[in-house]
Amino acid sequence: MVKASAPGKLMLFGDHAVVYGHPCVVTAVSKRIEVSVAEYERNEVCIDTPGVNDHSFIHAVLSRVSSLWCLPRSIRITVRSSFSGAYGFGSSSAVTVALIKALATYTSRAISDRELFLFALDVVLSVQKVGSGFDVAAASFGRTLLYKNKGEIIEPLPWKDIRLIVGYTGVKASTVEIVREVAEKRDHHPEQIDLLFNRMENIVWQAKQAMKENNMPWLGELMDEHHSLLQTLGVSSEKLDSLVLAAKRAGAFGAKLSGAGRGDCMIALVSKEREEDISTAIRLAGGEVVFVAFDEEGARLEV
Ligand code: PMV
Repeated sequence: MVKASAPGKLMLFGDHAVVYGHPCVVTAVSKRIEVSVAEYERNEVCIDTPGVNDHSFIHAVLSRVSSLWCLPRSIRITVRSSFSGAYGFGSSSAVTVALIKALATYTSRAISDRELFLFALDVVLSVQKVGSGFDVAAASFGRTLLYKNKGEIIEPLPWKDIRLIVGYTGVKASTVEIVREVAEKRDHHPEQIDLLFNRMENIVWQAKQAMKENNMPWLGELMDEHHSLLQTLGVSSEKLDSLVLAAKRAGAFGAKLSGAGRGDCMIALVSKEREEDISTAIRLAGGEVVFVAFDEEGARLEV
């Protein structure tokens, strides 16, 4: 039996702009998807995924791998997740990456992180049609990355003393729908939307510098500015805004929505001293505080 796992992710900066070739910053989180591949007694592929209803990514991996790697017919694939798909932590890319890694090892193939990323990106885009692939990069390489243009830049960034609180809105957002909506907006108002994206790109470059300097007040200001740009883009929501405001009022350095918007999660950058108060403020505003660690390891084999 072979077991592999891959982490979920959170977008820190560059949400939406990254779809149009701008850079973003993403961090891998401690919630992971674990996939095991084992011999099966019947002459068929058995997929055992308690709690995962959407098998489209698994089928897409299998159809590619069977034609390329001559996969045995009698295998059992089991998927275990340490997170709910609801949070928007990127379970589809994590399951894709972990399954490819497990199948490569099962068929005795060496696969580099770069090959894993490119293979998984191809699979994810074949199913989803839209997306930047930042989530696939986080699942494959892990850590905190500056990511651009389907892997043209994948650069690890330093993660020192950054404390984030993640607040879940309780609302499941459809990334694909929101990305399509933004594309339509951009078709109608290309100059205005590209102006927003250029400003987000500028924030990403500054955030890279702020992270290198370990400058939390600066990083917080950049998060606030980024959140306003996402509001202008029309992808925030009342709930996201109220959690962001609650975190700010309770003393966060900065706060913003993370990812496509409308629902899923927001993040707040906090000091150790204010952490408890800010968590309470997010809860009182109706958010669920989700405990995760950041800057986690990428895809790996498990024993
Ligand atoms: O909603 P999430 O956490 O999967 O993030 C989506 C981020 C977008 O930039 C909106 C889309 C993408 O593929 O980069």
